[in-house]
Amino acid sequence: MISRLNRVLDTFIGKIERAESLDPIADKLSAALSKPLSPAPMRSILSGTPVGHPAHPAMVLVPVGSWLSATYLDLVGGTDGECAARRLVAMGVVSAVPAALTGANDWMYTSGAERRVGLVHAAGNYFALGLYLGSWTARRRQRVGLGKALAAAGSVTVTLTGWLGGHLTYARGVGVDTTAFEVVPSEWTDVFSEADLQPDEPVLVHADGVPVMLVKSGDELLAIGDRCTHRGGPLHEGTFKDGCITCPWHGGTFRVSDGQVIEGPPSRSEQVFEVRIRYGSVQVRRADEPGVLRGNPVS
Ligand code: FES
Repeated sequence: MISRLNRVLDTFIGKIERAESLDPIADKLSAALSKPLSPAPMRSILSGTPVGHPAHPAMVLVPVGSWLSATYLDLVGGTDGECAARRLVAMGVVSAVPAALTGANDWMYTSGAERRVGLVHAAGNYFALGLYLGSWTARRRQRVGLGKALAAAGSVTVTLTGWLGGHLTYARGVGVDTTAFEVVPSEWTDVFSEADLQPDEPVLVHADGVPVMLVKSGDELLAIGDRCTHRGGPLHEGTFKDGCITCPWHGGTFRVSDGQVIEGPPSRSEQVFEVRIRYGSVQVRRADEPGVLRGNPVS
């Protein structure tokens, strides 16, 4: 039973992921959203940069929680619960706006199969929003039965779109720090020749296979992970200025001395490396304690 359901869902999501017919719609939507969502402060806030995690998963809690609570009251609250249910539906509709904005922002940085799933996820959520708007209107007009039916349909829809959102995160890794499973050496590791370093010119080196961006800034040698935590852009190909590196893919900016994000869309900081010179060779090692999964021998 469980494996059958799993197979059915896999087939369903596979069809969406391969549906190239969705691409022209996604292209148009992306073009329409790129201007309003591109200003730097807006991009950082919608990406969750100030709080260190993508904002969208937290923002969806309010509308989904409000709407499902309204359905619960519809089922067990009787006439006493009707007013509260109507207010919960309204709260869900209002709070869906920031949830949709953060989701649209995250979607703008996806491509291929992820972008198609994200498009269907969003379309389903807009459909649910329409159902709940209809539910609220019907309740205001004393057509409580219709309002409850529309809310029930909305509950089913947000459950399905929530599953699609879960697929994007847990199966496709959208919103996940792209360096989360990198195993970074804790021992000093030779990575480059000191003589070949040019001031303010980032270079790509590898420490036990992990890509590291190394740069000579003034008298200092600095090193952080080269793979952008946002979507994996190669930081050494970015622009190094005023001690910060700007990712060539979406313009996220990191301070190289401590790996902190200065400007979104990344929300996670970069791994920082300690650097030293030994006999003309640049050596690096991890500067902090590894997370459990980073040290997992299987990875
Ligand atoms: S990959 Fe998106 S900002 Fe670097």
